[in-house]
Amino acid sequence: MDPCIGKVILSEEAISARVKELGAELSALYRGLNPILIVVLKGSYIFGADISRNLKVSHEVEFIRCQSYSGTASTGTVKMVTGLSKNLDLTGRHVIIVEDIVDTGLTLQKISQEFKGKGVASIKTCTFVQKVTKRRLDDVPDIDYVAFELPDLFIVGYGLDIDQKFRHLPYVAVYTPDKDAT
Ligand code: XMP
Ligand code: MG
Repeated sequence: MDPCIGKVILSEEAISARVKELGAELSALYRGLNPILIVVLKGSYIFGADISRNLKVSHEVEFIRCQSYSGTASTGTVKMVTGLSKNLDLTGRHVIIVEDIVDTGLTLQKISQEFKGKGVASIKTCTFVQKVTKRRLDDVPDIDYVAFELPDLFIVGYGLDIDQKFRHLPYVAVYTPDKDAT
């Protein structure tokens, strides 16, 4: 494995157990409501699929794509690469935004704007990781469903990448850039 891949902080087993738990919680809450999972690409593609497979109630899945990171640092601006489908009618629908990581919360703020004026019945947020960080913006609403709270480290695996690599790892590991490499 790449020497930059450090300590495994979430094992495959721990992730699977927690996703099952969240799936059961959401299944109980959304019975009969046919919610729409809005999976935020690319980072949430595996978490979103696992949540969907563990939801034992009828639901739909849609995707949007945002981009904010370059390497291990946020660019400070969030680009909505692919927004909601133009013909998606959200009137009266129950929406669950499925994110990979909430760090500063900037991405989530940008995504929330997509739902303004669409007449949704409810909107909740579900994230795989919430980082414990002082960089969280003041006006970011609390996340409704958090799979794991982790310290402020750059992590890869289970959908999370560094420059598009390591998404396929079944666990989450700390990424430590090689300081000697130039
Ligand atoms: P903000 O600051 O907008 O950041 O809440 C959230 C987005 O930044 C990416 N991100 C990471 N991606 N490992 C990653 O692979 C990380 O440790 C990490 N921290 C933030 C991610 O795309 C997330 O949606
Ligand atoms: Mg990313």
